[in-house]
Amino acid sequence: MLNTVNPTETQAWQKLQAHFEQNNISLAQEFAQNPDRFKQLSCQLNDELLLDYSKNLVTSETLALLNELAHEVDLKSAIHAMFNGDKINQTENRAVLHVALRNRSNSEIKVDGKDVMPEINAVLAKMQAFCHKIHSGEWLGYTGKPITDIVNIGIGGSDLGPYMVTEALNAYKVEGINAHFVSNVDGTHITETLKKVNPETTLFLIASKTFTTQETMTNAHSARDWFLAAAKQPEFVAKHFAALSTNAKSVAEFGIDTDNMFEFWDWVGGRYSLWSAIGLSIALTIGYDNFEQLLDGAHEMDQHFLNTDFEQNIPVILALLGVWYNNFYGAESEAILPYDQYMHRFAAYFQQGNMESNGKNCDRAGNPIDYQTGPIIWGEPGTNGQHAFYQLIHQGTKLIPCDFIAPAQSHNPAGDHHVKLLSNFFAQTEALAFGKSQAQVEAEFIAAGKSLDEVTHLVPFKVFEGNKPTNSIMVKKVTPSVLGQLIAMYEHKIFVQGIIWNVFSFDQWGVELGKQLASQILPELQGDESVSAHDASTNGLINCFKAWR
Ligand code: F6P
Repeated sequence: MLNTVNPTETQAWQKLQAHFEQNNISLAQEFAQNPDRFKQLSCQLNDELLLDYSKNLVTSETLALLNELAHEVDLKSAIHAMFNGDKINQTENRAVLHVALRNRSNSEIKVDGKDVMPEINAVLAKMQAFCHKIHSGEWLGYTGKPITDIVNIGIGGSDLGPYMVTEALNAYKVEGINAHFVSNVDGTHITETLKKVNPETTLFLIASKTFTTQETMTNAHSARDWFLAAAKQPEFVAKHFAALSTNAKSVAEFGIDTDNMFEFWDWVGGRYSLWSAIGLSIALTIGYDNFEQLLDGAHEMDQHFLNTDFEQNIPVILALLGVWYNNFYGAESEAILPYDQYMHRFAAYFQQGNMESNGKNCDRAGNPIDYQTGPIIWGEPGTNGQHAFYQLIHQGTKLIPCDFIAPAQSHNPAGDHHVKLLSNFFAQTEALAFGKSQAQVEAEFIAAGKSLDEVTHLVPFKVFEGNKPTNSIMVKKVTPSVLGQLIAMYEHKIFVQGIIWNVFSFDQWGVELGKQLASQILPELQGDESVSAHDASTNGLINCFKAWR
């Protein structure tokens, strides 16, 4: 059982509040006063991942108090509870063991007294054998041709993770295999995808933890209808459909041979499931060995998280900084900005990871919460974002802490693209931290030969106040292992914050009401008669739809 401590009632919180009110931390001053700030406020996981958190609005006192907070809410016990397989997802009475899925040391982890590692290893072995059959051409479609296209049908955690990873690791793609991802129940998604593939050479992976999700099951049925329109015989489904699920009964009812089912378990949260059978599309797209390296990287971060003192613990540091901005500076959102085009879905992935985990207003004792919990997560790759929304980060009225992520080495070292990309990565955090003063703006005008009288009216618009906090996460190269490290790093950051905010991070009851209402409304959309069972707005919209369709 996790404890329930209202964080705002801890001594550390009170001290942080006073510290916040008494200090106006200036990055320019902190750096001027301490030439060792980078050395002191940065750490490496290994020789492939560096976190520089020196450009944050913190002093050594802030960090000490944040650490005190982590100790006061007993973060250490919570971490051990997760890794030990305790049922810390208490509202669903489930353990939370994505760390077991990548437990490369294979040490025993028990749920209800039973070691889960043998079944994890068995599913991994099954995935490996399946990848071999597909890649070697041993597995043939119903007309005897090898598989060339994988279509993953899933949504939320059964889509975002595999899609993000296959994009991020596109440089590792197995030749001759194309991956497609269908998530939206909007018929456009499946229709457009099916235009690109051939039923004779396509394998559909129906990815759903519950195997009941409306969007996924609707798309899966449409895919099967499309397939059977060509293949005619239902027994051919076995060669072209596999299921990634915890629900063997519904998989069988759909008509997928349970030999073609890759199992996972209720202690794997949907948004933490890419490490499980849900990662089959990843393994098929980048190769099983690379999938294992992804697991290896995550395991390395897990061990760091489990065994490192909070002062040097990368996920803990990131989490505490996030709490500082969220709860004391009143920041509403955080941006994740990868300077790597392959990582273009990374922020979208952690939108679910973070917002579905910590978007909660009820504490672990069931009481309403009167402080801020999970932030809004958003972001796009740099440099694209620079030409879109960075204006607001630099000169808007909102404080937006940003994580900048960049690889030192590119998979595509074309000309001088990478140094140009990285010059922007370095420049942005420098500009955000130190800004440009009025005196600097005026000096620039004078140097450009303009008289101040001529341009004084422009000066206020050109001033950057700076003091905007950022983390810089530099990796050597986005390899499968490094990507595993990065994903696990953010997963654990979310976990730490959930513990501090005293919420249950591994349920998602907030998505249920919309689903329930949609299933009530669906039959009402059938006939032409007007609808009056709802509020005036909903009635009006439904009736407009009926008139216009
Ligand atoms: O509706 C939210 C959710 O339950 C997510 O948590 C999950 O990732 C997604 O739906 C898909 O669920 P499933 O894998 O069971 O289809």
